[in-house]
Amino acid sequence: MSDLKTYLAVQRQKVNRALEAMLRADANSPRIVKAMHYSLMAGGKRLRPILCLAAAEAVGGNSENVIQAACAMEMIHTYSLVHDDLPAMDDDERRRGKPTCHVAFDEATAILAGDGLLTLAFEILTNTDLSVANNAKPWLQVIQRIAAGAGYKGMIEGQMRDISSENTKLTLTELEAMHTLKTGALIEAATCAGAILGGGVSAQIEKLKIYARQIGLAFQVTDDILNVEGDPQLLGKAVGTDQNRNKNTYPALLGLAASKTFASELIDKSLQALESFDNSAKPLREIARYVIARNR
Ligand code: IPE
Ligand code: IPE
Ligand code: MG
Ligand code: MG
Repeated sequence: MSDLKTYLAVQRQKVNRALEAMLRADANSPRIVKAMHYSLMAGGKRLRPILCLAAAEAVGGNSENVIQAACAMEMIHTYSLVHDDLPAMDDDERRRGKPTCHVAFDEATAILAGDGLLTLAFEILTNTDLSVANNAKPWLQVIQRIAAGAGYKGMIEGQMRDISSENTKLTLTELEAMHTLKTGALIEAATCAGAILGGGVSAQIEKLKIYARQIGLAFQVTDDILNVEGDPQLLGKAVGTDQNRNKNTYPALLGLAASKTFASELIDKSLQALESFDNSAKPLREIARYVIARNR
């Protein structure tokens, strides 16, 4: 196994264990807990929490201290997927290799499961021991950044633009802004959260923010590309759906080849932002390359 594959597998397992401890479910659990657990543990790549852990590492911090923030990011991301798949949004039936939440349960339960995951994230974020010296300030900064990234000036605004621009053609500038909001904002918040909680200084946090901006956009451009030419078995979700719904995507606007070139330029820029970091940023560098090389 390559270094990156091993790293991702180890980090994913760490995240999955922590998530499992934060949200347990069994046959006797209430329906809402079963639905939240179903989507959260359905088997995502865990990119956002892994970025959070890797950013803490890159600034010389202990990634153990940031696991709560990492898990909160995954809860918010999973909530966004549960709602993104609803009939009123993208109306998708498969996610993470399984029936979507509203198909496995029902629409009302899926709406509530999303709400439950979003609010649980903030409960987890505030579970930290704020009485520990100097702990309150970074945690408050992190909570503020995560709320802003997930909210109406971040991911929610991106989703609003995605839905309301179906059937109308955005300009390249508008498309870039939409993707930066709908997907980049959470990726940026996850990375900055790790950097802040890892004890990074403001110059480091700024550079990691630039890194995250570039990979966040590249991640969504790649999601668009995979929706055209990916393997639905590997992806765990349907392909061809963007075209069916007349979504604004990079392949639709630029074509596949130019979209791939653009994504790879973004990754070059993300790596430039890491130039002043030492070898502890190796995972972040490898993750950047993985963002466009992935097939799921
Ligand atoms: C899918 O995100 C939705 C986008 C923001 C592109 P991921 O590709 O990270 O999905 P999971 O978490 O691995 O299922
Ligand atoms: C996902 O966008 C972005 C969010 C859920 C915030 P998409 O709708 O493009 O992602 P997939 O392709 O369904 O995973
Ligand atoms: Mg969508
Ligand atoms: Mg979708």
